[in-house]
Amino acid sequence: MQASIINLPKFEDLRGNISFIEAEKHIPFEIERTYWIYDVPDGQVRGGHVFKKQQELIIALSGSFDVIVDDGKKKQTFSLNRSYYGLYVPEGLWRQMQNFSTNSLALVLSSTTFDENDYIRDYQEFLDLRK
Ligand code: TYD
Repeated sequence: MQASIINLPKFEDLRGNISFIEAEKHIPFEIERTYWIYDVPDGQVRGGHVFKKQQELIIALSGSFDVIVDDGKKKQTFSLNRSYYGLYVPEGLWRQMQNFSTNSLALVLSSTTFDENDYIRDYQEFLDLRK
């Protein structure tokens, strides 16, 4: 399965806009956990790894950053810079986040609770498993 951008609901209003997500309605999984990445120093890279089971939705709530998704054969770069776009990343793909703008805020909705055993952090191990 491939990563894809999900266009989230957006209610535009002169008083300000509202977007929202309901589990299993706007995204294809039930949310077990949410976490956020912030205060990323210039040039830093986060999240170079695979989740074996975890599916996730990544949103640039503020600012911008790139998510590189790699299936072992081809890499795709998604530039996130709007809070009403979510990047759905299914399990089993290598994903890395970089080019964080100053004060950017990455929200991640996850289908699982945190489990270090769900990570593959070695790129060669990932490639060997994809063969
Ligand atoms: P990690 O997902 O490894 O960050 P990155 O891949 O961007 O380097 O998270 C870093 C550490 O934070 C991880 O080893 C343990 C802790 N952590 C939790 O305890 N719970 C969580 O939900 C997350 C995302 C991380």
